[in-house]
Amino acid sequence: MTDYPVNLDIKPDVKAFFDPATNTISYVVKDPASDACAVVDSVMDIDYAAGRISYTHADEIIAYVKDNGLKLDWLIETHVHADHLSAAPYIQDKLGGKLGIGRNITVVQETFGKVFNEGTEFQRDGSQFDKLFDDGDVYMVGEMKCFAMHTPGHTPACMTHVMGNAAFVGDTLFMPDGGSARADFPGGDAGELYDSIQKVLSLPDEMRLFMCHDYGPNGRDIQWETTVADEKAYNIHVGGGKTKEEFVKFRTERDAQLDMPKLIIPSLQVNMRGGELPPADESGKRYLKVPVNGL
Ligand SMILES: [Fe+2]
Repeated sequence: MTDYPVNLDIKPDVKAFFDPATNTISYVVKDPASDACAVVDSVMDIDYAAGRISYTHADEIIAYVKDNGLKLDWLIETHVHADHLSAAPYIQDKLGGKLGIGRNITVVQETFGKVFNEGTEFQRDGSQFDKLFDDGDVYMVGEMKCFAMHTPGHTPACMTHVMGNAAFVGDTLFMPDGGSARADFPGGDAGELYDSIQKVLSLPDEMRLFMCHDYGPNGRDIQWETTVADEKAYNIHVGGGKTKEEFVKFRTERDAQLDMPKLIIPSLQVNMRGGELPPADESGKRYLKVPVNGL
């Protein structure tokens, strides 16, 4: 396995922003040694029934960054989300910073470029992003050394981003009582997800883990932070030493019962473009497609 530059002595400030419409948690992560920060997994608001987008959630993040005098170095997408639209370009436009995602975005673009029949003007080389991360890539947020771990399974492009003693796992894990995310989207793989989860759980026990989603199982309040130790001990899908075979069987059976996420169609079209809407047509308007029986 790659030798990752773990450093638990760096303790970033992590500010969470919960979006109740999609149960997504976005983060502003601040370097403790400077005013630099990163934004992880931002959300664009959409009223899909009305075809209307807005930026209330993103504006809240922008206001937080500005009010605290922070400088935005990075906008990180842990993966191409299928349940919410990214607001990364909107925030980048207002605050600067570089936009990064996993190298395998190209695989996701190839798959969904076909599903949405995007034609040749849709680039499938990841060029909508400033940086495509490979496993073990190191980058700086101010003076804080961060690194990316390739954790595929939920999607081929999923990365876990580790910033000091805080790891942003995307949809590789949920809170211990939430288990794990589905692995049945095109390019997903339950066995790969198990291996990726083990990779995350091989980080030090005290590593703080931050979720991308929480649904408050069994009526509990929304939570987003846990540790490697707690996931190893208590995660209902992989904790207590569950085997890969047990996990794959359970995950595959569970996924077969799940409905498509409500926003998967607009989310994929926007997120595979790095959060940009599809280009305007000759009338100057932008449209989202619905592929009939295409997913
Ligand atoms: Fe996801």
